[in-house]
Parts: sequence; structure tokens; C-alpha cells
Amino acid sequence: MNNFVFCNPTKIVFGKGQVQQLNSLIPENAKVLITYGGGSIFKNGVMNAVKEELAKSDRKVFEFGGIEPNPKFETLMKAVEIVRKEGIDFLLAVGGGSVMDGTKFIAITAPAKEFYGKEEELLYFGAKGTPVKNVLPLGTVATLPATGSEMNNGGVVTKGTDKMPVFNAGTFPVFSILDPEYTYSLPATQVANGVVDTFVHTVEQYVTYPVDGRFQDRTSEGILQTLIEIGSKTIEDPKDYDSRANLVWCSTMALNGLIGSGVPQDWSVHMIGHEMTALYGIDHAKTLAVVLPAMWRVRKDQKREKLLQYGERIFGITSGSEDERIEAAIVKTEEFFNSLGIKTRLSDYGLKSADIKDILANLEKHKMLALSERGDVDLKVSEQVLKTAL
Ligand code: NZQ
Ligand code: ZN
Repeated sequence: MNNFVFCNPTKIVFGKGQVQQLNSLIPENAKVLITYGGGSIFKNGVMNAVKEELAKSDRKVFEFGGIEPNPKFETLMKAVEIVRKEGIDFLLAVGGGSVMDGTKFIAITAPAKEFYGKEEELLYFGAKGTPVKNVLPLGTVATLPATGSEMNNGGVVTKGTDKMPVFNAGTFPVFSILDPEYTYSLPATQVANGVVDTFVHTVEQYVTYPVDGRFQDRTSEGILQTLIEIGSKTIEDPKDYDSRANLVWCSTMALNGLIGSGVPQDWSVHMIGHEMTALYGIDHAKTLAVVLPAMWRVRKDQKREKLLQYGERIFGITSGSEDERIEAAIVKTEEFFNSLGIKTRLSDYGLKSADIKDILANLEKHKMLALSERGDVDLKVSEQVLKTAL
């Protein structure tokens, strides 16, 4: 196992009716900005419940709505202005990954005096993190199980065709309220996205090369098997509490640092997928469902041992040559995504061979030239992957 430091300071408050803890989780005299998306929280009653709780103290509460899926820098800057003008000192994100991610960017940017007037530079620090101290504290009431944003310190923000990951040591939410019932109102396709995003987060940290990280492997396998067990069920019967609760917890645990500690991590599927969302607006999870099988076919030699382990432990594949078993595991994965209503080819989303050069140009622009657990996914490999995905 590799050396690691693991620290996750987010308090999780999980279950039915847990919004009742909200008042006690936010400092008594905080000036709070509630951030939200396009309005789903008004239709499903979540905003009402949040406001009712906040009304139990006489804090000043402001609101900022309109954070779009794949949140835009320009939208978030409007919230940054409100935070600066009103002296807001606590952010409460109520929504899905886009709202939570966008709120992290607001938390970093609003107090960053050294970046006033040149805030967009904060988009380009990548995995090393933004050099801003004393970011604003934030909490979340999460309404979409997918990204893990409720328990990690990452966010993804878009400016033009740049969809950039943004990190800061201070943007772990202080708390996240996860009430599975708050996700009942999701459209089926968003639930399917959540299952696939969680699945791919897990395999980006599991299907790499072995370092004898047994706890990490067994935990990843537990998440993957749970997703296969409950995936279709929770799409078809959204109010089956237990299935949904399991999806919510798997999503959070798949990307909170736990299963990735001490093991190699890939993330090439995500980085190529981000370019596809930035250029063509395809939902995040759908880009992953396209890139993952192709990536595994192209890099089956580098991932051989873990792909065989994955095939055997997740799908019970034990017969045939190694190559046959690997191909069978990839086909099973595609079948699983398809069974959720998520398609797995570039052409399913209207992309053609001629579009590949634009995706490659964006990868080059963003210096995504040495991706994967081995740093061997250069533009040539990315091209091969995209051609395989057609
Ligand atoms: O905006 P509203 O009206 O709230 O509607 C949203 C949105 O249209 C809707 N929705 C959310 N909760 C709902 C609901 N509709 C009904 N009932 C509810 N309870 O769902 C739509 C999609 O929401 P969005 O937040 O965009 O989806 P998701 O949670 O999948 O987040 C995707 C974003 O997260 C980033 C992605 O790149 C993308 O920008 N990611 C963030 C990560 C992280 N922070 O660690 C990791 C991921 O790999 C990912 O890259
Ligand atoms: Zn993802």
C-alpha cells in the first residue's frame, strides 16, 4: 500500500427529516447566503424546510439562485459580489453537484483579495489547489446523489469551453445534510446519471494496478456491487427509501478520499469526459459511460490484473483466456449502464469522427497530456480511446 494522509472533516447528517438539525449546525450569528439552482428545491419543498429551520434563529439570510448545471464562472461571480457587498460569512448550498461545486468556488473567490479583478485565474490551479487561505465556511443540503461534492473539497467550474476542476483545502463542507427523501423528485435520467457517476468514481480509484490495498479494493467492490443491486430498482421505484438511501451513501463514500487513499488513481476518463461536456453539453455521467469502456479496451494491458479482479469479483467471470475475461467484464459494464438507460457510444450523443479533433484540441489546451495512474495517456492514446468509443 502507498503512503497517504487521510483527513475528512465534513460532518454527515444522514436520514429522513434531518433538516431539523440545520439550525444547530450553522453558527448562531452567521450571515448566511443560501445558494441554489434552477428551482427544483421550490417544487419539492426542500427550500421551505430549509427556511423554516433557519427562521428558528434571527440570523440574516440571503438567497442566490440560478446556478446552472455545469456551473458557469460568470454566474458564480454574481454571487461573489453579493457575498462581498453584504459581508456574508456562511454559505449554504441547497442542490446537486453543480450548486455545491459552484458554492465552493464562491467560498474561495469572495474573500480572495489578492485575486480581486482577476478572479478567473482561480480556475487554473488544478489538483495542486487554489492558493487562497481563509475561505468561507459552507454547508450543504444535498439533493442529488452523484458527485460526492457533499463530502469532498473539489468543484468543477466552466468558463467558455474550459471546464476546470478547482480545489482548496478549506472547501470541505463543514456539514452535509443527506436526506434520501429529498432526492425522490429527481427525474429518472438524473438518478441514472448518479449511479453511473458513482460507479465511475469508484473504478477510477480501483481499476488501476494492484498495491495490495485490500481494504480499499473490498470497499470499492462493495460500492460497485451495491450499485448493481439497487441501480435499476431506485430508478424504477424512486420512493423505495432503502434503495435510495444506499445510493446516497455510496455516492458520498465513493469520492470522499476513503477508497482512494493509499492506492493509485486514474481520472483520465473524467478529464476526457469534462472536455465533452464543455464542448457539447453532454451530461457529466453520460460522457463517462462513453469513455470508460473504450479506455479499458485501449489500456487493458496496463490495467490487466485489476480488470481481471474486477471481472471475477463483480461479475463472477472466471472462464476463458485473460483477454476474453477482460472483454466480458467490459461488456457487462456496458450492459449495466445500458440497463439504466445510459448509452455508451459517442455516436449515441450525435458525435462523429470529425468531432474528435476538437476534444483533443481542448485536452491539449488544458495540458491533459499525461493522464492516468501511470501518466501514459497522452493525446495519441486519448485519440485512440475516442475512436474506439465512436
Ligand atoms: O438546478 P435545479 O433546478 O436544482 O435542477 C437540477 C439540475 O437541473 C436537478 N436536480 C437536482 N436535485 C434535484 C433536481 N431535480 C429534482 N429534484 C431534485 N432533488 O438536476 C439537474 C442536474 O443537477 P447537477 O447539480 O448539475 O447534477 P450533478 O449532481 O450530477 O452535478 C454535476 C456537476 O458536478 C461535477 C460535474 O462535472 C458537473 O459539473 N462534478 C463534481 C465533482 C466533485 N465536486 O467532486 C466530481 C464529479 O466527477 C463531477 O465532475
Ligand atoms: Zn464524476
